[in-house]
This record gives sequence, C-alpha cells and structure tokens, in this order.
Amino acid sequence: MKVISTVKELQKEIIKVQLSPVGFVPTMGALHNGHLSLVNSASAVCPLVVVSIYVNPTQFNDRNDLRNYPRTLDADLKLLEKIMRNSDIVFTPDDKEIYPEKDTRIFNFGNLDHVMEAKHRPGHFNGVGQVVSRLFDIVKPDIAVFGQKDFQQLAVIKELVRQSDYKIKIIGNPIIREDDGLAMSSRNRLLEPGIRENASAIYRTISSASAMIAGYDIPEIKSYVMESINRIPGFDVEYYDIVDDTELVPVSLKSEMQKGKRYFGCIAVKAGNIRLIDNVEIGLV
Ligand code: PAF
Repeated sequence: MKVISTVKELQKEIIKVQLSPVGFVPTMGALHNGHLSLVNSASAVCPLVVVSIYVNPTQFNDRNDLRNYPRTLDADLKLLEKIMRNSDIVFTPDDKEIYPEKDTRIFNFGNLDHVMEAKHRPGHFNGVGQVVSRLFDIVKPDIAVFGQKDFQQLAVIKELVRQSDYKIKIIGNPIIREDDGLAMSSRNRLLEPGIRENASAIYRTISSASAMIAGYDIPEIKSYVMESINRIPGFDVEYYDIVDDTELVPVSLKSEMQKGKRYFGCIAVKAGNIRLIDNVEIGLV
C-alpha cells in the first residue's frame, strides 16, 4: 500500500493506476477490527481502495473530546499493511489539505440533524457533512463504506449523497463487537478499567429491549433500558430512542410502527468520561 498525505499526489496516483471501481473508507484513525471489516468489504468489490485517516476538527463540538481523541498513526498503518494490497492507498492529510480555506457551508439534513446525536452534539453532523463531501470531492470514489454503529451518521451520509447528487454507492457494514458484546469503537481504549468491565451491559440491555417488543409497549421498553443502565455506577444514558432507519423519527408507541419499515433501538451512554453509542434492530411482531 502507498501512504500519501497531499491531495495533489493522491489524485495523481489514482489517475495513474487506472483501477475501478474505486472504494473509499473514511476514518479518523485509532483503527480496530470494525474499521478493518470496512476495508475488507471495500476490497472485495474494488480493485483500488483508499482509506483516509484524518481527525476532523469541524465535527467535534467538545474541545476536550477533540484533544483526547486517540491518534495512533504508526499502529494504524501496521494494521492496514496486513490487509491492503500494493496498489491501495492510505491518505493521511493535514488540516490545510482538507480545509485550505475555512469551510463555512451549512447543510440542511432536516430531521436527521434534529434527533438523538444531533440534540447532544450540536453542529456534529454539519462537520461530518463538510469533511465527507470534501473527501468525496478529493477521492471521487464509486463506493464508500461506513459502519452501522454510527447509525445516524450513515443516514446523514446517504442524505448528503442524495442532496449533492454524488454518484457514489454507500454501503453500511454490520457492527463488529468485542467478545463481551461491546460495539468496537476507537473510544473504547479510553474507558477506565472498572467502566470497561461493565460496558458490555449496554449491548446486553438493548438486545433484551429489542426482544421485549413482543410483550411490552415502547414506554416500558425505554424505562427498562434507562433504569438498567443508569443503575450501573458511572453510567448515564443520554438517550434511548426507537427510530426507523431512513427518517429517524422516534416512535413513542408500538402502534406508530409501520410494516415494511426497519426500526432500531439507538442508545448513547456516558460511561465514565467517555460517550459510547450502539444500536440493535427491533423486529416488528
Ligand atoms: O465515522 C468516522 O470516523 C467519522 O465521522 C468520519 C466518517 C471519518 C468523518 O470524519
């Protein structure tokens, strides 16, 4: 694989190798098996895969989160080396390459930017829209792969592609989990040991909540999730909402759920100082 850090060099290389379709996996580094599964999915259908590693400042609404975000470039490159092919590219730009000028664009993602994460991280999805569209313009991929752990981000990116008329196929990859069920995340490595031990309760609880749909209505399911997790010392649920996977409209009663739509129970939890998100599909009965 080649490691390239400027836009000019990257575009020259993509034109030179003349391989298509071009697959793209944008990341912020601190790579884990979840990211590697995205790269493997792209490689399975694309003879050329570009992985970007760039911690995008415009999507952080919390300065401390940006400062503390793990940066592990050497380890990331070692992991990628094991699975990427000779012609594949790792793109490691700096801020000047991505934002030669300040990005002042404001996107309108409608409801997608008003619920769940958007309520707790104002401006986050606008920043994601800025960096992803900039990266799409630079890499010009045919296919881009994202993780379904960032459920709302995936819906926002599909909307960005629709609004901007990008000819890019967006693939959502299943969540990859640790042995105890915790969804893999770059932030897991920041969890304090005591908190990490209990973090498997998040997946366990939202999985049980999904099964509860057969016998309970949504207010009871939501109370079960909030109470089960909030009783763990150091854990605080920011939200647990059941939403459809396109408009992301939270449903408050089972009778509002429509046949033919897919629903997911989505959660954000403050686990110690670290914010974790996860989701599990809820099958209609
Ligand atoms: O999911 C992420 O890691 C980031 O939000 C992304 C898509 C790479 C944009 O910075």
